[in-house]
Amino acid sequence: MSTTSRRGLFLTFEGLDGCGKTTQMHLLAERLRARGETVIETVEPGGTEIGMGIRRILLDPRNDNMGSEAEMLLYFAARAQNVHEVLEPAVARGEIVMSDRWTDSTWAYQGYGRELGTEVVRDLDAIACRGRRPDVTFWIDIDLEASLLRARSRNQERAEQDTRMDDQSRAFYERVYQGYLALEETEPERVVRIDGRGSVETVAERVMAAFEARRGSHV
Ligand code: TYD
Repeated sequence: MSTTSRRGLFLTFEGLDGCGKTTQMHLLAERLRARGETVIETVEPGGTEIGMGIRRILLDPRNDNMGSEAEMLLYFAARAQNVHEVLEPAVARGEIVMSDRWTDSTWAYQGYGRELGTEVVRDLDAIACRGRRPDVTFWIDIDLEASLLRARSRNQERAEQDTRMDDQSRAFYERVYQGYLALEETEPERVVRIDGRGSVETVAERVMAAFEARRGSHV
């Protein structure tokens, strides 16, 4: 993972709603750009035009009768398009791609939260992402209470759109959190747990340190 290497790199940011991963992703992207790297930032669901259409369906509160399986397939449909349109071409050009959420969100939210299990998530990932897995995943870990508080205050600021997922029950988010814990246990070489408490700058330093620490193993 040398910064001068032409090998592409795929980094993802994960965590509970309101954990600060979006801000942290932008900060790491800026720091790497300042070193001369080409960094592409994307988001799931929604990193492409087709993905944005799928995102509107997924997060529309009027769709509260959506079945869990349909929901999971829509997340993967958005992601498959992202792989095709954004991820694969950029990695092939030797660029760094960063995604705000990826399949680990489906693992945690649908696999654990909706209790669909992790096996089906793995199987669908193999199809949608064609074997492309993140090189490093930063799990920005904040506790459930902090996440629920931030999600609620964000909800009040936002339009009605985009709030379907934020309306889930507490038990659901507890399962999601268990999903992230299990993920870190299953793939400790890929998934780095970052303490998300403290100032934005403090957390950014932790992300940077973790990124540097992983470099050697990805050259
Ligand atoms: P978003 O507004 O992007 O929230 P955040 O800033 O916290 O990422 O909403 C995305 C929501 O979709 C979030 O609640 C997590 C959920 N989600 C899934 O349930 N499964 C998935 O595969 C993905 C990518 C997201």
